[in-house]
Amino acid sequence: MQTIQQILETKLRDAVGESGGVLVTVQSAQDTRFGDYQSNVAMQLAKPRRANPRALAQEIIAKLDVADLCETPEIAGAGFINFRLKPATLIAYFTALASDERLGVPTVLSRRLVIDFSSPNVAKPMHVGHIRSTFLGDALARIGRFLGHTVFTDNHIGDWGTQFGMLCLAWKTILNKDALAVDPISELERIYKAQNERCKTDSAQLDAARAELVKLQSGDEENLGIWREMIRLSQVQFDTIYSRLGIHFDVTLGESFYNPWLKDTVAALVDKGIARESDGALCVFSDGSVPEKENPFLIKDENGWKDSPALVQKADGASNYTTTDLATIAYRVREFAPDEIIYVTDGRQQLHFRQFFAVWRRWQPASAVKLAHVWFGSILGEDGKPFKTRSGDTVKLADLLDEAVERASKVIAEKNPDMPEAERNEIAKIIGLGAVKYADLLPSRQGDYVFSWEKMLSFQGNTAPYLQNAYVRIRAIFRKADIGKSEIRNPKSAISFTEPAEFALVKKLAQFGEVLPSILDDYRPNLLCNYLFELANAYHSFYEACPVLKADEPARSSRLALSDTTAHVLAKGLDLLGIGVPERM
Ligand code: ARG
Repeated sequence: MQTIQQILETKLRDAVGESGGVLVTVQSAQDTRFGDYQSNVAMQLAKPRRANPRALAQEIIAKLDVADLCETPEIAGAGFINFRLKPATLIAYFTALASDERLGVPTVLSRRLVIDFSSPNVAKPMHVGHIRSTFLGDALARIGRFLGHTVFTDNHIGDWGTQFGMLCLAWKTILNKDALAVDPISELERIYKAQNERCKTDSAQLDAARAELVKLQSGDEENLGIWREMIRLSQVQFDTIYSRLGIHFDVTLGESFYNPWLKDTVAALVDKGIARESDGALCVFSDGSVPEKENPFLIKDENGWKDSPALVQKADGASNYTTTDLATIAYRVREFAPDEIIYVTDGRQQLHFRQFFAVWRRWQPASAVKLAHVWFGSILGEDGKPFKTRSGDTVKLADLLDEAVERASKVIAEKNPDMPEAERNEIAKIIGLGAVKYADLLPSRQGDYVFSWEKMLSFQGNTAPYLQNAYVRIRAIFRKADIGKSEIRNPKSAISFTEPAEFALVKKLAQFGEVLPSILDDYRPNLLCNYLFELANAYHSFYEACPVLKADEPARSSRLALSDTTAHVLAKGLDLLGIGVPERM
């Protein structure tokens, strides 16, 4: 079904006529005292048409055919057009919404999206640094699919690089097999750190590590075997975490997968004159086609602009992260024919992405694929410094998830001392993991945020438990009155609303289909978080103002339907963020 916003936009477009490229849009009003929706189109058009915006707004209103939907539109401020929906419009809209499988979300023009996210590194534990990429990427994938896009999720695991020289050497010399059997990743982390220390003080060790790397790169069977085993052990760990989190990848193609294409990639860049030799290495420099300020191949210091090339082959002939990313994009374009590739990583990689996107454009100028680097800030401890354990180590993701579930379990036990342990454990998983995900998705992604157990597990405020609890409380109404699905779907009387709180809730519900498509514009799931919070609040106000089970017909059926649809939108919205809902808590 169409959203109210879409319907109004169509009507407005008809009234405006030729807009000369000006976008004719309608927004839901920030301040509902003056209306439900608002358009600034008259102000946008005033300049090109050399007209007074308020007079133009008057002209547009005269041509607007919205009498069946709204009161007469009003002009406000410098020339805003305000729309106030008629009660009958909201009742008709809600009647359709209550039985709409898609909860009012229109399908958009389907595009093919590759989402590259999470992408942890082999032989290292997944840690707090992977949280944001993993949750953001998963939420974007879920939202993209629900909107009707074809989404390919790809985990670009870090499974190649110089660290494997040290790891192969350490595996052969200092590995503790028993420790490896018990906790493989911790043992791999231990031997890597120990080897690193040895290499710092002993140059013979460093040479030996380099020799192991050369052997690995030239296909030595023993080292390849060790390397494969390290990947296998790491993948087991990753999979355990992803399955706990309900996260799925369509493909997991690590960096090493692209090794066969690296030489050709570099050769093509040299061939086309995009990369050139510099101190024995091959680099891409600015071609002067982009203004200095936006040019990723230039940086400014006190003496002015100077070169900051992208390295695609080191002086020793080895490829690097950039080379791999270039080979990867070529592969993805061939295999998935994407309209867009979305990369989710932390903000420190911005230059890398700006550079390699620019190299790709020069290499394949005919390619229309849209490239997006969705970057995010850091997670901080309550002291405002990077989030660490009490002993100062990086926080392992598995430990963090354990703690989340444990803490949630305590909170639930306090509220429900008689709940059987098995049930409590199930609910604690949903609440604990949901709290961590939501706390991560709520802040605007480009800022840093402070990790606070207390805040994220609170039942008050903009938190997952608050939203889950709103859902649970609605479900409890239906349980209490023993009302099943069919009764809600086939109400005793036609929908009828009279109270302001009912209309306010319908208007909020109608925004679900308006907010969701806008999330992918700038890759911001936090818009969904904020929407769900507003919806839960609107339900709360409704519930305070309007009795449900004790009301007479037709109010009772209508309010039950309103409650049911709210519960569905809350559950669906949370699901799109990768968060579950319990039936009790
Ligand atoms: N493994 C990398 C890291 O941990 C992230 C990879 C992101 N994806 C990409 N195509 N570069 O920093």
